Amino acid sequence: MTRNFLPTPIPHDDLVELLDLARRAPSAGYSQGVHFLALTGDTLQRFWRTTGADEWFADVQSGVLAAPVVVLPLAHPAAYTSRYAEGDKAGHGLELAENWEVPFWLTDAAMATENLLLLAQERGLGALYFGIFRNARVALDELGVPGNVLQVGAVALGHRAPDDQVSGSARTRSRRDRIEVVHHNSW
Ligand SMILES: Cc1cc2nc3c(=O)[nH]c(=O)nc-3n(C[C@H](O)[C@H](O)[C@H](O)COP(=O)(O)O)c2cc1C
Repeated sequence: MTRNFLPTPIPHDDLVELLDLARRAPSAGYSQGVHFLALTGDTLQRFWRTTGADEWFADVQSGVLAAPVVVLPLAHPAAYTSRYAEGDKAGHGLELAENWEVPFWLTDAAMATENLLLLAQERGLGALYFGIFRNARVALDELGVPGNVLQVGAVALGHRAPDDQVSGSARTRSRRDRIEVVHHNSW
C-alpha cells in the first residue's frame, strides 16, 4: 500500500484503461454487479470532507490526501439475486440476499479491487485500499449512487512519492509464517 502520493494527475485515458482491465475479474454467474466510481477534482475533495477522511488522514497519513484519484468499488446485490433466480441457478433460494452464506457481490467486488491494486503496481503507480468509516451512505447519495448499491471501501490511486515508506499496520506487524496460514489436508 502507498500512503504518500504526489499530486500528479493520472491521465484520463490511462485511468479508463486501468478500470476497464480491473473489471475483468471473476464474476459469480457472470452477474457483473461490480461498478467502479472514480472521483477526481472537486468531487474527490467533497468525498474527503463528507467521510471525515480529510481529518483522519491529515492526522495520521496526510500524504494520502494528495492522491489525484479515489476509486469506489461498488457492489450491486440485486444483479446477483436476479441472476441466481434464472433457470440454470434457481433452486437454492439465492433470489433472496439474506440466504447467501457468502455474498458473492462482495467476493466479486474484492476480486475486481485486487485487480486494480495489482494493475496499479504493474503500471508503476501507487494505491491504497482503505475503509470508509463515517458517512459512507451520505457520500454515496451525494454521488448519485442508488440506495441498493453498496460501498466496499475505496482505492486511492496516484504516483508514489519518492519518500513513501512502509506505513500503516504493516509497519508494526509482520507477515505471519506460511505454516500458520497455509494448510495441507487438515487445518
Ligand atoms: C479490507 C481491508 C481494509 C483496509 N483498510 C485500511 C484502512 O482503512 N486504512 C489503511 O491505511 N489501510 C487499510 N488496509 C491496508 C492494510 O493495512 C494493508 O494491506 C496491510 O497492512 C498489509 O500491507 P501491504 O498491503 O502494504 O502489504 C486495508 C486492507 C484491507 C484488505
